[in-house]
Amino acid sequence: MTPSAALALPRLCFGLGSLMAWAPGHTHPLPTDSYAQVAAALAAGFRHFDCGDLYTNLPSAIRAIRDAGVPRDQLCLSLKLNTYGALKPARRDDMVASAKKVLREFGWDKHDGYLDVALLHFPPRAKGDNLSNREAWAVLEELKDEGLVRVIGVSNWTIDDYESQFAHNDIKHLPQVSEYELNPHLLFDPKFKARAAFEREHGIVPKYYGILTPVTDRLAKRSASPHLLATLDELSIETGLTPHEILLLWASQLDISGTSPIITTSTSNAERAKRLVQLLGDTNQDDDDSGKSGLDKSVYERLEHAAGQDGYEGKTFYLHPHMNK
Ligand SMILES: NC(=O)c1ccc[n+]([C@@H]2O[C@H](COP(=O)([O-])OP(=O)(O)OC[C@H]3O[C@@H](n4cnc5c(N)ncnc54)[C@H](OP(=O)(O)O)[C@@H]3O)[C@@H](O)[C@H]2O)c1
Repeated sequence: MTPSAALALPRLCFGLGSLMAWAPGHTHPLPTDSYAQVAAALAAGFRHFDCGDLYTNLPSAIRAIRDAGVPRDQLCLSLKLNTYGALKPARRDDMVASAKKVLREFGWDKHDGYLDVALLHFPPRAKGDNLSNREAWAVLEELKDEGLVRVIGVSNWTIDDYESQFAHNDIKHLPQVSEYELNPHLLFDPKFKARAAFEREHGIVPKYYGILTPVTDRLAKRSASPHLLATLDELSIETGLTPHEILLLWASQLDISGTSPIITTSTSNAERAKRLVQLLGDTNQDDDDSGKSGLDKSVYERLEHAAGQDGYEGKTFYLHPHMNK
C-alpha cells in the first residue's frame, strides 16, 4: 500500500482557489459565490475539496457541500490555514479559531468532528510579526493531538523551510502532505528535485496544483513552452486525449517523491468535471500504482523531454509576493 493510500485521502482533489474572482490587476480576491461550480463537482463525483481560510468562496462552497447531503465519511476537506500576518492575523489563536470556525460552519464541530487535512498555506519564516515555521507547525501538531484534524502538512514549502522546521529536535508529528506547484518544466528545477528527495526520505505525500499552467494563458506573458506545447499537440492526436488530460495523467503517475501524489485541479465547467472524475477518480487507479490510467510510459517520456528543452526558469505561475519559492 502506498503512503497516500495509507492516509486514506482521495487522490483527485477539487480546488476552490481557481474559482475566486479577483479585483482588476489581480490585487485581491473578491467575495465569490462558487455554489454552482462546487455543486457540479459534487454531482460529477468529486469528494475531496481544497480550500483555505483566505478563500473568499469558502462560505458558498460549504453551503453546496452541506446541501449535497453526501455522508461525512465519504467527504474529504483540505483546509489551508493562513500563516501571513500581512494577509490576515495569523498567530496561534487565529489559526485555531479559523479551523474551529470551518468545523462549525460545516456542522462538524460536535460528536468528535474533524477536518481531514490542515496545511500551513505558506511558510511564515518569522518574517516581521509572523510565527517561525516551527511555531506555526506546532499549531497543527496541537490541532492533530486534539483530534480536530486527521492529517497535517505544509504548502509552498521549500527544502530550506523543511530544514528550519526540522532543525528543532522537538518535532512531535512529521508533515504528512505537502502541496506545491508542479508542471513538467519544474521537474528540471534543482530546488524541486531537492524537495522531492527530502519528501521521499520522510514519506511525505505530494499534493500538486498548477499542473495545467503550460496550457492556460498564464505563462504566455512571461515565457513560452514551444517544445512542450508542440509535443502535447502530437500526443493529443496520437492518444485522442486533450493536452489538459495528458498533463493531468502525467502528473498522477509521477513517483518522484516515492508515493502516488494527490492531484489538485479545478474547473467551472460541469462537463469537464465529469471527465476529470472519469479519468482520474480513485476507481480508475490501481492500488499497486502500476500502469494506471493506461498511457504508455513513452508518452510521459516524450512530454518530459520536450519540457526539459524549454527549461524551468520562469515557469512558475503562483509567485506569491511575500515569499520566494
Ligand atoms: N497552495 C497554494 O498556494 C495554491 C496556489 C494555487 C492553487 N492552489 C489550489 O489548487 C487548485 C488548482 O489550481 P490551478 O487553478 O492552478 O489548477 P490547474 O489544474 O492548473 O488549472 C485549472 C484551470 O484550468 C482550466 N481548465 C481545466 N481543464 C481545461 C480544459 N480542458 N480546457 C481549458 N481550460 C481548462 C480550468 O478552467 P475552466 O474553469 O474554464 O475549466 C481551471 O481554471 C486551486 O483551485 C487551489 O485550490 C493552491
